[in-house]
Amino acid sequence: MDIITFKDKGVLQIDFARPAKKNAITAGMYQDMADALAEGAKAADVRVILFAGQPEIFTAGNDLDDFLNHPPSGERSPVFQFLEQLSQAEKPIVAAVRGPAVGIGTTLLLHCDLVYAGDNAKFSLPFVSLGLVPEAASSLLLPRMIGHAKAAEKLFFGQSFSADEALGFGLVNKVMPARDVLEFAQAQAQKLAELPSDALMATKRLMKTEVAPLIAERMAIEGSEFRKRLSSPEAKEAFSAFFEKRKPDFSRSR
Ligand code: COA
Repeated sequence: MDIITFKDKGVLQIDFARPAKKNAITAGMYQDMADALAEGAKAADVRVILFAGQPEIFTAGNDLDDFLNHPPSGERSPVFQFLEQLSQAEKPIVAAVRGPAVGIGTTLLLHCDLVYAGDNAKFSLPFVSLGLVPEAASSLLLPRMIGHAKAAEKLFFGQSFSADEALGFGLVNKVMPARDVLEFAQAQAQKLAELPSDALMATKRLMKTEVAPLIAERMAIEGSEFRKRLSSPEAKEAFSAFFEKRKPDFSRSR
């Protein structure tokens, strides 16, 4: 089981659990998470969602091998089902981030309500260097959150940034020693689960009234560009270079 889900007193916890591959996310894992979120949306005994990984790794993002060999073929592919469920979730979402959060590991946080990070958390958005474009409406949400210039730096260069930097621009709520993060996030999720659920969901809905339609629209545009780019020579070169543990050479891949 590469995704582990369990319920505890109103909280549905979804854990990335594929440590041998740094929790890289395959189509099967996206489908499991999309199904868990869809079921959680309907279940009366789920009031809050909590995402977590392992103490040393949140997730290395999309599984590049799976993406190369089984690229998402259409709008209903598991990754897009997951993004739809995530971005349209009415119930509050909490995340506990320890270690690297690469690609979707960072962009999914833009759809969480409360994000707690360990001092070992490292965020990165290496889409361009992989020959891809941002997903999860991050091309819309990141510039809105941190301004165009800072977003350009993170999205163009894909260099990782620290938990403190993420705290500084409002991507995370609190940074703490890595060993404390999961317990703290679970306690916060528990507090949310004890609040009046309808009022909480209505508040989340109100907070997102303006941006929700823009997110859906941007995800569709990004998704179509992303699918095109996955089969581009640039992406093929970048992915091969990762697995061959060498520097990519884009001079001949246009
Ligand atoms: N897709 C597929 N496999 C991945 C992966 C990914 N995104 N990330 C890591 N792995 C695999 C590695 O190939 C390696 O497999 P192997 O043991 O069979 O050789 C294993 O996981 C361990 O990875 P490794 O790179 O040795 O771990 P690390 O601790 O040195 O570095 C990361 C961890 C997350 C910083 C690094 O693995 C990384 O940068 N991964 C790629 C991230 C990425 O580009 N994601 C796509 C975003 S769209």
